[in-house]
Amino acid sequence: MKNSYLNLELISYNSTDNTPKDAAKVVFISEEKQLEKRNLNSSLSKKITSVFKNEKDEIITTFEDSQSFWVIATTDDAEKNRKLGISLYKALAKENSEISILGGLDNLTDKSKNAFLEGLLMGSYKFNPYLKKKENKELKVYVSSDEFSETSLTQVTNLINGVALTRTLVNEPPNKLDSVMFSERIAEAGKKYGFDVEVLQKDKIVELGMGGLLGVNQGSEVPPTFNIMTYKPKNASNKQPLVLVGKGVTFDTGGYSLKTGGHMSTMKSDMGGAATVVGIMAAVAKNELPYYVIGLVPATDNKIDGKALLVDDVITMMDGTTVEIQNTDAEGRLILADALSYAKQYKPELVVDMATLTGAAAAITGPFGIAMAGNKQEKMDELKQAGENTYERLVQLPFWKEFEELLKSDVADLKNIGGPVGGASTAGKFLEHFTDYDWIHLDIAGPAFLKDAQGSNPSGGTGVGVRLLYDFIKTRTEGGK
Ligand code: BES
Ligand code: ZN
Ligand code: ZN
Repeated sequence: MKNSYLNLELISYNSTDNTPKDAAKVVFISEEKQLEKRNLNSSLSKKITSVFKNEKDEIITTFEDSQSFWVIATTDDAEKNRKLGISLYKALAKENSEISILGGLDNLTDKSKNAFLEGLLMGSYKFNPYLKKKENKELKVYVSSDEFSETSLTQVTNLINGVALTRTLVNEPPNKLDSVMFSERIAEAGKKYGFDVEVLQKDKIVELGMGGLLGVNQGSEVPPTFNIMTYKPKNASNKQPLVLVGKGVTFDTGGYSLKTGGHMSTMKSDMGGAATVVGIMAAVAKNELPYYVIGLVPATDNKIDGKALLVDDVITMMDGTTVEIQNTDAEGRLILADALSYAKQYKPELVVDMATLTGAAAAITGPFGIAMAGNKQEKMDELKQAGENTYERLVQLPFWKEFEELLKSDVADLKNIGGPVGGASTAGKFLEHFTDYDWIHLDIAGPAFLKDAQGSNPSGGTGVGVRLLYDFIKTRTEGGK
């Protein structure tokens, strides 16, 4: 619990038991007629009634009644219930250490109920290892077994623990998480959550000829690592693995195409794609989903010294493709390209890469969604559905062949930037060159990291993508695909 920085524990209780005496009480009321069943004091009752009568748009509201909190959920909307959970944690943790949920959730679908628990857990996340004064508000939440099975409490906890792990890895400053330390954290996560980890060191990376990863790493005093995570349960419903690839740039200075004008700040989050892969592996393994999943993370920083990559350099990638460097700040695609080449050996059923790849994608989505491209519409549609389920929504980029033509170079097979237009699409086209399997590219540059708190989300790493891929995988195991 401590490691993940979640400050909330879900505890199942049987309705024939007495609920914990000192715990504050939370009741959901989703219809006006339910009010009659509750003994409320008249002023509170009036307040609630007015929500139903006058503020139809105000979907969800919380009220405080001395020690108790009354929650009104007038609609069955998963995201609203998730947000309600987040704000409710904050309200409750101020004054309580124990609460019990006394029901009234029966009008909500399982999806909404689960989203509420996700929100409670996500709201309790606090990254504070470097604060002298840590203010942890641990909250125990007793949930009736009539509303949720014990397994469902464990599963949602494990899932949000994965989200928290991703957030934490992103939030770690670059001096506490370089490529080598990142690999140690991945190995630790593997032991803790139940997946295998192999870390390829620099000599092996040289032997494999990963010119993209080595090129980006040239200006760094810290060696690159290539991290392979394997989760292969005996009862897996798929023979060929789903391979997840994450951009692991532990800090992006831009290299000689240096980031200026304040753009370098927050670039500790440039391993957000990699952190997402680790969070997904943790959640899937801990919940023992019957699905074969591989995670690949090439890791390095993008820094400068006398040996650093130059603009105009030509490098040779793992698959033999030569690349003319025209901007050293377009480094993510270089390290991802080698990981995508590496993925070929698995004959994967699908590869999904995740990366904080382009400012252009962030300009399209803002923090509200993820930009997607790929070569298999059917599978993209399936992932889009997972995006709607989890509210980690996907928008598809134009992916016309003309974007690929923008990557033509006079001196090499490809250059590493397109031009002034379609930056998110040309980055995707660059990656596509290194694939020979069904593939989806997710550019999470917009939503992966929030400079300032936004709505119900705290500043820092968001863990976006973990719930998305978890839902995608879970649905696949259920659908027998
Ligand atoms: N890590 C950045 C992309 C990024 C920007 C992520 C803002 C999150 C927030 C990436 O390596 C980069 O610098 N991309 C360049 C590409 C360009 C040189 C073609 C960009 O987007 O400007
Ligand atoms: Zn860059
Ligand atoms: Zn980058």
